[in-house]
Amino acid sequence: MPKSTVTFMCSECGGESLRWAGQCPHCQAWNTLQEFQVRKSGPGRKPAAAALGPTRSRPVPLSEIESEAAPRRSLAWGELNRVLGGGVVPGSVVLVGGEPGVGKSTLLMHAAQQVAAKGGRVLYASGEESPQQVRMRAARLGPLSSGILLLAETDLDSICETIRAEAPEMAIVDSIQTVTDAGFEGGAGSVTQVRESAGRFMRLAKEIGVPIFLVGHVTKEGAIAGPRVLEHIVDTVLYLEGDRRQELRILRAMKNRFGSAEEIGVFAMGEAGLEEVPDPSAALLANAALEAPGTAVVVVLEGTRPLLIEVQSLVNKTDNNYPPRRIASGMDINRLHMIIAVLEKRASTKLEKSDIFVNVAGGIRITEPAADLGLALSIYSNTRDSPLPDGLVAIGELGLAGEVRRVGQLDRRLQEAARHGLTRALIPAGSKAGRPDGLDVVEVRTLAEAISAAFSSPMKSGAFIREAEASVT
Ligand code: TYD
Ligand code: MG
Repeated sequence: MPKSTVTFMCSECGGESLRWAGQCPHCQAWNTLQEFQVRKSGPGRKPAAAALGPTRSRPVPLSEIESEAAPRRSLAWGELNRVLGGGVVPGSVVLVGGEPGVGKSTLLMHAAQQVAAKGGRVLYASGEESPQQVRMRAARLGPLSSGILLLAETDLDSICETIRAEAPEMAIVDSIQTVTDAGFEGGAGSVTQVRESAGRFMRLAKEIGVPIFLVGHVTKEGAIAGPRVLEHIVDTVLYLEGDRRQELRILRAMKNRFGSAEEIGVFAMGEAGLEEVPDPSAALLANAALEAPGTAVVVVLEGTRPLLIEVQSLVNKTDNNYPPRRIASGMDINRLHMIIAVLEKRASTKLEKSDIFVNVAGGIRITEPAADLGLALSIYSNTRDSPLPDGLVAIGELGLAGEVRRVGQLDRRLQEAARHGLTRALIPAGSKAGRPDGLDVVEVRTLAEAISAAFSSPMKSGAFIREAEASVT
C-alpha cells in the first residue's frame, strides 16, 4: 500500500498531525490545521533537513575550520548591522516578519539602496506590489538606482532561477506568502507552499552564497502566517514591531545563527521612509509627559542596550459592581496583576475598586522585571494624584513581600540615566554599582521605602501611606 503523502500542519505552531481536527493537538489553537504534502522522496524526513546542503562531507579537525567563510557585508545603517550580528552574512536566509503596514518593504528597500549605493546589485522579487508601486516607494526613500533589479514574479522556480542567473549581492523576496511552487498543491500562503519555498531558498542561498531576505506577514496572534515552522528553517528571524500610527519601529532579532538573538535596532518612520535612531532613549523621552501624576521613567535592557522608557498609569475609581478593569499596553498583564497585588498588600494602596490602565510610551514592550518598581510608583502616583519628581528614574524588581530586588547590569542603566540628564535614581539596596556624576542614587529595600523616597516626604513611610490610604478610600 502506498504511503500517505498528506498530513496536517498547524499554521500557528507548525505541529503536525496525521488527521484533521478542529483543534491543534500541540498548541490547542482552533481551526489552524491545514493540509500539508509530504515529499515522497523522503518519508519521515522533513524537507527542512535537506536545507543543510550536500550531505557527503568528511570530518575536519575543529582547529582547521575557518572562523567565517566569507566576510559580512556592512550596510550603511549601524542599527541594521547590529541586529544582523554585524552585517549581512553571505548565503544566509533572513526572515523579516511583522504586521502588514509596519514597514518591512520599506526597511528592505532601504537596505537594497544601501547595497546598490556601494555598487552592488540587488534582486527584489515582489509578489505583493506592482513594479510601479515598488518604484514609487523606492523614489521616496532615495535616488532610483540601476543596481536594483525588480522582478514581478510569484513562481518559486522562476525566482530561484533568476537569483541563480543574476547572482546578486543580495536578494529580497517580498513576501514569502505570495510565492508558490507549481509542483505542490495549495494556494499561496498555505503551510505547504510557505515551508517548501523557504526550504528551497535556504538551499539556494547556501549553494550560491547569496543572502536572501524573506518578508513574512504576521497574523494577529503573532505567528508568521503560514507557519511558525518557517522560523525553524531560516538562519535569522527578525521582527519589525511598532505601532503603525507612531514613528518608532523596533527591529528585534528573535533567532540568529550568526549573532546574538537579543539585539534590537531602532528606527523611526517618516516622510522619506525609515531613519535609524542610534540614541533611542532620547527619542523615547522626547515627548514624555513628565511631572504628570502617573508618569514614571524606567530603564530596561534590550540586549546590551539600556533604554529609558516612560510608563504611564491611569487609575480610575469605578462605582459599579463589575470587576475592575486592568489594561496593560506594552507589558504582560499578569505582571501588572502582580504589581497591583503587591501595592495593595505591601503598600496599603486600595485598588480593588479602580480600573487601572498602564501604557508604555513609544510602542515599546517591556519584558524585564527591572521595570516593576517604576510601574508600581507610576500606579501609586496616579492613585494619589501626585506627580513623581522630575528627573527620577526607578530601577528594581518587586518581590511578593514588597522587597525591591536587585537587577543585572545596574552600572549600564545608571550611566544611561545620567547621560540623559536624570538627577535621581532609586535602586535596590545592596547593589554594587558606580555612582555616575550628577545622579543622586538612593538605595531602597522595600516598595514602601521607595514610595517615601520618591515623594521625598518628610513623613515616615507608614504615616505617608496612611495618608495616601485615606485619599484613596
Ligand atoms: P510598508 O513598507 O509598505 O509596510 P509592509 O511592507 O510591512 O506592509 O510600509 C507601509 C507603511 O509605511 C505605510 O502605512 C506608509 C508608511 N510609510 C511612511 O510613512 N513613509 C514612507 O516614506 C514610506 C515608504 C512608508
Ligand atoms: Mg510590504
